[in-house]
Amino acid sequence: MRITVVGTGYVGLVTGCCFADLGNVVTCVDVNRKKIQELRKGVIPIYEPGLEEIVKRNRNKRLFFTTDLAKAVHSSDFIFIAVNTPPGKNGEVDITHVQEAAKGIARNLNGYKIIINKSTVPIGMGDIVTQIIQKNSSKKFSFDVVSNPEFLREGSAVTDLFKPERIVIGATSRSAAHKVAEIYKPLYRPIVITDLKSAEMIKYASNAFLATKISFINEIANLCDQVGADITQVVKGMSYDSRIGGQFLNAGLGFGGSCFPKDVAGLVQIGRDHQFEFRLLPQVLEINRDQRKQFLKKVHRALGSLKGKTVAVWGLSFKPNTDDMREAPSVTIIPELTAKGVKVKVYDPVAMPQAKLFLKNVKYCKTAYEAAQGADAVLVLTEWNEFIQIDFQKLKKMVRKAVVVDGRNIYDPQQMAEKGFSYYGMGRGKPFIF
Ligand SMILES: NC(=O)c1ccc[n+]([C@@H]2O[C@H](COP(=O)([O-])OP(=O)(O)OC[C@H]3O[C@@H](n4cnc5c(N)ncnc54)[C@H](O)[C@@H]3O)[C@@H](O)[C@H]2O)c1
Repeated sequence: MRITVVGTGYVGLVTGCCFADLGNVVTCVDVNRKKIQELRKGVIPIYEPGLEEIVKRNRNKRLFFTTDLAKAVHSSDFIFIAVNTPPGKNGEVDITHVQEAAKGIARNLNGYKIIINKSTVPIGMGDIVTQIIQKNSSKKFSFDVVSNPEFLREGSAVTDLFKPERIVIGATSRSAAHKVAEIYKPLYRPIVITDLKSAEMIKYASNAFLATKISFINEIANLCDQVGADITQVVKGMSYDSRIGGQFLNAGLGFGGSCFPKDVAGLVQIGRDHQFEFRLLPQVLEINRDQRKQFLKKVHRALGSLKGKTVAVWGLSFKPNTDDMREAPSVTIIPELTAKGVKVKVYDPVAMPQAKLFLKNVKYCKTAYEAAQGADAVLVLTEWNEFIQIDFQKLKKMVRKAVVVDGRNIYDPQQMAEKGFSYYGMGRGKPFIF
């Protein structure tokens, strides 16, 4: 099939590459010239495991990159919109990039096209895109608008695209929905075909539910700290209940990234736009913000006075296996520390080039050990595997004080005590202090 993907970010690029790998001819379009120039040379602008090989396999055979939207629209039957929908000032969803993309597509229609929205957009956006296209096209050609929200997770986006748990397709035209379903047929995964608005709502409801799970377990973790229970044991005991399950119940620093905070806030605003006031979701966001303060309190308790202390921060990206720094806990936690006179040495396996755009006044180190050299405490902000596998004997010789504040609960408190470390986890009961 001939496919164009408008927007070559985390979603658009991975989607385009995977569609090409499935044998389709794909043109990826972006307004960012530099990004397209780099991609044409085979340079991947994001860190996403497995993506580079796919680009290598398909580039200039079935996978093309351009800034020329007209040419891309002319040469395709399916046009996916995968542009960013960032949060506005009050959390409302900024749809300007989707509107721009829709206008551009409309002006270049040269035959029947199916326009598929993959961006996360307010419920009703499918109708808005339809109106934009009607208004901005010559009206000579017919088209259909389809919603196909994306559920990939950064860090495992390639796997998620090839093995999605479900594919959601919303449309007014059943025939257009089935044509889009054909693209996904080689994946042999469940496909839900529904109406436009329900498809758009499925995306928001799914993200809001997952975010709620995280805030729920973080509240339970905070009570665990007070009563002396261990949240990891609590979750283990809960997870055997098939109605609950064990996923998305990791207590820690809360959710970050470009989706959950923005989508929960977006859904609250979508509710307000329709005279509906969510009671649960504002609390989900509030608990999430507060979780970073809980962590800072633990750092304070671990260090005593903060001024003049040195800490190592391990992990900067919002989660492992990505370099995405958007809404990462490090971006709020580190400036709080430096403002209080703490010297911060940081290390992240892949996110440091991106982090430099967000975090100043810190020392970027080449290894986790280098960051820990002379530190009064090691703070774990992202659960990268290499931190889980750390050599504690070696670490103990490098730090000034053997103190770990573990924002992701990657270590076992008992084992840390045996290794001679004071350990502060999130909801692990009373800390072990030497
Ligand atoms: N990142 C994720 O994990 C994820 C997962 C599921 C859904 N989503 C949703 O997918 C959408 C895209 O997210 P992302 O993380 O890929 O964003 P991104 O910021 O990484 O990429 C968006 C790209 O679109 C380009 N763009 C903007 N306007 C354009 C236009 N008019 N024409 C061509 N290109 C344009 C930008 O230059 C950028 O390269 C958002 O709505 C997001 O909520 C994201």
